[in-house]
Formats: sequence, C-alpha cells, structure tokens
Amino acid sequence: MSKSLDAQLIDCLQTKVWGRVHRHVPVTDSTNDDLARWMEQGTKTGSLVTADRQRRGRGRLGRHWDSSAAQDLYASVALVHGPGVAGMGALGLAVGLGLIQALEGQFPELGTWRLKWPNDLLLDGKKIGGVLCEARWSRGEAQVACGFGLNLLRNRFEDPGVAQRATSLALVAQERGKTLPARVRVEVLAQLLLNLEQTVPRYLSGGFGVIASAYRGYCRELGRAVRLSGQGPDGSPPGTVFQAIDLDEDGALLVQRARGQRAWRVQSDDVWLVAP
Ligand code: BTN
Repeated sequence: MSKSLDAQLIDCLQTKVWGRVHRHVPVTDSTNDDLARWMEQGTKTGSLVTADRQRRGRGRLGRHWDSSAAQDLYASVALVHGPGVAGMGALGLAVGLGLIQALEGQFPELGTWRLKWPNDLLLDGKKIGGVLCEARWSRGEAQVACGFGLNLLRNRFEDPGVAQRATSLALVAQERGKTLPARVRVEVLAQLLLNLEQTVPRYLSGGFGVIASAYRGYCRELGRAVRLSGQGPDGSPPGTVFQAIDLDEDGALLVQRARGQRAWRVQSDDVWLVAP
C-alpha cells in the first residue's frame, strides 16, 4: 500500500517550520475548517492540513471548489500572528505569488504561468489552482487558514463549463506528450511550502510593497481591458469595461474607464478579460 501524503512529505520537505506539523485526512468537509479548529486549540504558524478529497471545498466569493479528485492537492497552512505585521488585505496575493513562483520553477517547460488578480493560478490562460485565506481573531491574535487547491493529476473535469476554463498539470503535460508520476503530488507540495515559507513572512514584515514588483510580473490583467463581475467602483453596472492600469500599494487593482480619467480601486471583485 502506498504511504499517505503526510508520511511521504516528511521525506522531501526542505522547510524549517512550514508543513513540519501535518495532519492528513482521506476525506473532510474543508481543510480550512479543520485548520481553523486546530488553530483555536493552539496550533501555530506553518501547521498543515491536507486531504485527498473535500466534501464541501470552498472557493472565493462563496463558490464551490471541486475537490473530488484524490490525486489533486487540497491544503491549508496556518498563519498565526499578533498585531504589528502587515494586514490581511494582500495576504492572498502573497500566497498566490509564492505558489506561482514555485510552480514555474518546477515546471517552466509546461507553459506560461500567470496570476489572475487577485490569486487564481493560471497555466496557459486556464485556471489550475486557487487560494482562499480565511481569518478569525481569537485571544488577540489573527488565526488565518491559507487554503489552496491545485489541479494536479486529474485527467478530466465533470462539468463541461469548468473543463473549458480549467486545466490540470497532468492534462497540460499530456498535451506535450509527457506523463507525470504519482510522486509529483508530494514533490509539488514540498516546493509550494518552501516558497510560502519565504514569501509570506516577507509580505508580513514589509507589506505588499516588497512583493509588488514580482506580483506585477505575473499579473495577467495589468494593461488589459477587464469587466468586473459586480457593480463598478464608479457606480456603473456589472459588466462595464475598465482598463486595469496598476496595483495600489495594498494590492487593490486600479482601474479606469478611459485613459486620463479617474482611477478607481477594486478590492474583492472578480475580473474577466474582455479579450482573452
Ligand atoms: C478559488 O479559486 O476560489 C479558491 C479555491 C481554494 C480551494 C482550497 S482547497 C483547500 C482549502 N479548503 C477549502 O475549502 N478551500 C481551499
């Protein structure tokens, strides 16, 4: 019988702290929820929860995260901190950056790795992963579950709509005539944790400014025309076209209706490219 993910991870982990305390479960509702309970009981930064499947995997903006493929990654890492560090605002962007840099470093030949603002992971324009950071305050400290899902070895998506927009590492490798071994799951997880251990503390101590230039380099929307899923920041109706011009100092997306006009901040909306 093959070893479970926690037993495999310990053999290839290169971090100091992140992922060294690890609970792996075959099935759960959501690893973010499991981790939130664990942090409430006192577990600290770097503790990791992974699952083979989630019954109620959550995505951003109240969406469902398809967690039916046991070969994919469903993981949540704990971040527990008191006051005196950068706010939560751009934490998801920092996590997304750490993940995309790790993936590009491991699989540069598979295609173009990009971030869809704020923190969707894209490979050749299709979504391959996402980040959901959820925070609670307890005993004067912020307890944040940094959850991420990555489509790794699945070779199909049940939902035809999702299949058009999403991909997996295995599907892209297959298109290039390659087969990925099962151990890629643990090797990727180890690399993701190593990058997060470096990127997230930099963000926490220095704010978005210290990662902004690296983030800009991956952000697909910058310089492009986008539609916002909600009401525009200027009161315009959902679907209005804006130009994404830059990121603000806290990671908010700056958009304007036309060159020379006022720039508006977008913080938690979903944005879609007008021309893919
Ligand atoms: C998104 O793209 O909308 C974010 C998806 C985040 C999914 C991960 S899987 C592990 C963790 N547990 C959850 O319920 N969600 C996150």
